[in-house]
Amino acid sequence: MKQRWLILFLVLIASFGVLGIGGRSIARNAPPIPAAVQGPEGVLVGPGQILEGQKSYLGHGGQHIGSIWGHGAYLAPDWTAKALHRWAELTLAGLRAQGLSEAEARARTRTLFQANTYDPATGTLALDPVQASAYARTRFELARTVVEGDKDASIPARWIPTLAEGERVADFFLWTAWTAAAHRPGEAVSYTQNWPQEPLTGNQITPISHLWSILSIVLLILGVGLMVWYQASREEEPFPAPQALAPQPATPSQRWSAIYFGVAMALFLVQVLMGVVTVHFGIESNALYGVDLSRILPYAASRTWHLQLAVFWIATCWLATGLFLGPRLAGREPKGQALGVAGLLLALVVVVVGALAGSQQAILGRLSGSFLLGHQGYEYVELGRLWQILLTVGLVGWLVLVVRALRPALAAEKGRLGLLKLFLLAAVAIPLFYSAGFMYNRETHIALAEYWRWWVVHLWVEGFFEVFATVAIALLSTRMGLLREKTALRSVNLSMILFLGSGVIGTFHHLYFTGSPAFISALGATFSALEIVPLTIVGYELAQSLRAGRALGSGYEWPFRYFAAVCFWNLVGAGVFGMLINPPSILYFGQGLNTTPIHSHAALFGVYGFLAIALMLFSLRGMTPDSGWDARLLKIGFWGLNGGLVLMLVMSLIPSGLHQIVQSLQYGTWYARSAEVVQSPLMRSFTWLRVPGDVIFGLGALAVAVFAVKAALAAWKWKQA
Ligand code: HEM
Ligand SMILES: [Fe+2]
Repeated sequence: MKQRWLILFLVLIASFGVLGIGGRSIARNAPPIPAAVQGPEGVLVGPGQILEGQKSYLGHGGQHIGSIWGHGAYLAPDWTAKALHRWAELTLAGLRAQGLSEAEARARTRTLFQANTYDPATGTLALDPVQASAYARTRFELARTVVEGDKDASIPARWIPTLAEGERVADFFLWTAWTAAAHRPGEAVSYTQNWPQEPLTGNQITPISHLWSILSIVLLILGVGLMVWYQASREEEPFPAPQALAPQPATPSQRWSAIYFGVAMALFLVQVLMGVVTVHFGIESNALYGVDLSRILPYAASRTWHLQLAVFWIATCWLATGLFLGPRLAGREPKGQALGVAGLLLALVVVVVGALAGSQQAILGRLSGSFLLGHQGYEYVELGRLWQILLTVGLVGWLVLVVRALRPALAAEKGRLGLLKLFLLAAVAIPLFYSAGFMYNRETHIALAEYWRWWVVHLWVEGFFEVFATVAIALLSTRMGLLREKTALRSVNLSMILFLGSGVIGTFHHLYFTGSPAFISALGATFSALEIVPLTIVGYELAQSLRAGRALGSGYEWPFRYFAAVCFWNLVGAGVFGMLINPPSILYFGQGLNTTPIHSHAALFGVYGFLAIALMLFSLRGMTPDSGWDARLLKIGFWGLNGGLVLMLVMSLIPSGLHQIVQSLQYGTWYARSAEVVQSPLMRSFTWLRVPGDVIFGLGALAVAVFAVKAALAAWKWKQA
């Protein structure tokens, strides 16, 4: 037994060691930010101006209006690809005007862009006269776009308030374009591994990307084979002693945890609504059926809210589950627990409201200078730093509440590492990795900021959330006599080794093209493909869950069905659609296109959304009288959410993603993201085709929310006889 945990410990040390070494190498090999860009007629960009542009871009909502290096929003241009294309196009035109033949002008354009004329000694990037005048022209055009806005791309007028500030933002865009084409010193590949594809500058996928892509698939097949072998050699274990956790009147603190679920469902409904509004902007700029929202809730704000609320409501359900389980497993509740739980809820509401309001005000230009209260500019960790600190403090407060409630039950585990301790460790990991988000700010080099940001997002969803899910379900299953603790511990240990052994280094799959050295792609592609190995047998867990629900009865059928949905989407959303974009050979063409939201919706809602609802249902079942348990609503919710998600994927996101990827393969990323493609009749039809799926999904969400509010109120009222 001890040996298993030692192996896990060593796996963790080794994986984080590699992740750390990778980070150091990313920092050392990050593309340099020139102190000056020099043209023949003088300085084009002065000291500090590129970083000033980055700060201004991020402060105004940054990655929610277009994207940089393919990371960000899918509407509006990828600024790197667009700046590179336009700059190269104008350079080519300039060379033609000098009388070069077409072939000569094209060859010269490629040479100019690939040559690295940055001088580290002086910090100066010297541009050829033609390239310099194309730079100035491109900068002016980009600055005009961000200041005047662009209806087709949902960029509101005066997004960036002044032309001078717009030029700094454009300098930042153009610097990322430079990193995309200029070769690393001594190498024949650009800082971004030649991303994006751009025929004018000779940006082409590197051959080695194909090798790592194929190797990753081969490794995956090997891993699946071994997994099936392991599974086949295990003895099927019948449920030892199934016995449902019978509903009992809630303790005072548990009554408050029921209210958390009501709040979480309200946030869920707002999140869905923000999704609908965000999609609609793709058709009608910043208006909703004629009502102009650009001065209240522009695209970037609704998209920010859509993403932040996903994190908030899912987290709220998990927090509430921990708060419910404490007294339930311990059999009593410590003094003052109810006050702590209610206080934490109030604090959470303050943080949610503050974070949402701050980010919206920043996008409207009123708080754009405030890093503390406004918008950080990156996706998934948008909230101003103050809200981020308060949220972390809240998560720690939650841990304290759960630990004090669980103390009697923990004592029963004595010195050994039981499921309860594991549950707490998994719970500690969540705030711990959220705090990686404190490692950067708006001024951090973007290659390094991306590295730390994915510590949060990736290590959460592909590492510690998976662990939390596994442990939480194992804990509930042992307490309901569906699993022996020894078996549960063995399978939790194996899952942790598999998820963390692949997922920690797998973080690098987000950094293929973000200014990292080539070995990052190799490690990222292969290790992340291995993440899918444990997902290929979730079908087994799915069948187990359905059987467990039937064996227990007493209302537990639905909680287990929702958990079966978690298993299904883990295979389809995380595994299949993750692999659709994972090999560098594909992501090179698909980075920043609609193929990514296929995966993010199917995985983030499919896995963690359903898990949040499943955990909510397990908790509510334990404290809701039968009179408050409306299973009909759960049935509508289950089919609405699953059916709606399938329709959204099949009718809209998959076809539009594939259409865009074909455009990208043929003409380059800039084109796949241009208004010509995004606003084409075909793409607009795909957007409209989201309506049926979205409506069905929305009805499902409403049914679950109504269910939860009814159950929570019934639990609140149910008093000890
Ligand atoms: C339940 C588990 C998972 C969740 C919740 C999840 C969620 C996400 C999210 C939210 C994004 C960001 C999308 C965006 O920036 O718009 C993302 C990106 C990505 N995911 Fe996952 N993911 C999961 C598992 C996986 C797995 C198993 C793989 C493949 C092995 C994978 C591969 C990728 C890749 C390559 C990207 C980057 C795409 C891009 O930047 O364009 N994911 N994922
Ligand atoms: Fe990832």
